[in-house]
Amino acid sequence: MLSRLRWPLPALMAWACAWLAYTVLQDALPALWPGPLAQAGGLVRPVSLALACALGVVLSLLGQTWWRRLAIAAGFPISLAVSGASLPAWGWLAPLALLLLIYPVNAWRDAPLFPTPARALQRLAASAPLPEGALVLDAGCGLGHALVALRRAYPKAQLHGIEWSWPLRALCALRCPWARVRQGDIWRADWGPYDLVYLFQRPESMPRAVRKARAEMRPGSWLVSLEFEAREIGPHQVLRDGDAKPVWLYRAPFAAQQPVPRP
Ligand SMILES: C[S@@+](CC[C@H](N)C(=O)[O-])C[C@H]1O[C@@H](n2cnc3c(N)ncnc32)[C@H](O)[C@@H]1O
Repeated sequence: MLSRLRWPLPALMAWACAWLAYTVLQDALPALWPGPLAQAGGLVRPVSLALACALGVVLSLLGQTWWRRLAIAAGFPISLAVSGASLPAWGWLAPLALLLLIYPVNAWRDAPLFPTPARALQRLAASAPLPEGALVLDAGCGLGHALVALRRAYPKAQLHGIEWSWPLRALCALRCPWARVRQGDIWRADWGPYDLVYLFQRPESMPRAVRKARAEMRPGSWLVSLEFEAREIGPHQVLRDGDAKPVWLYRAPFAAQQPVPRP
């Protein structure tokens, strides 16, 4: 919802929240943690600064592009420096390190975090029916939006998610306690046990996904890709709903895409 706000509203909101947290924490921390923090008064400001930076980085998830995310995360330390406050060197490095933790470089090659829209998979179960207890994997599960949509589609399936970023994995596990969510690399995981593997990655990742699916997935299992087509194999079906992103359904064994005959 919040990420749909018109730019730069998400950034303004995130910066305001970080500033508010920074100001409130400087008063609240000594009261909340009267022991060591109150005695070592010099720690109150750095701890408030670190927590406010962390909040800015978490709120950077509201940005729809890399530049916007960077602007949201960096806005608070920049505005603090511009306000004349002296900023320790780590005040700049902390947001960068946190950003790398949330969006590790490894994940940049495949896809950054963009959530599956809530209604994107509402017609999936009718086209790709699964038996009770089927194993479903969201490869690169981010914050769990697709897991929620998959659960709605297959309420009796066992849902698994793999996510490279540790913080996203932790938030996803909190959000989807009914799913088995683990940190890992989708390219190292075995897709063999799954009845359906769901992907929302990048067009560039699809040839690799096809090679992996061909090598590992059992006959009858499904590879489902939101938005991006696997051009090497023929789709079983494509679900299109007006302006919504298409859902590409492929069923193992994956046949080569038939060339379109020239007139
Ligand atoms: C476009 S988001 C999709 C998130 C979720 N599947 C959804 O649809 O709501 C892609 C996610 O894949 C993760 N990712 C990218 N490469 C990965 C990899 N090699 N292993 C595990 N996760 C990866 C990213 O961190 C990001 O959270």
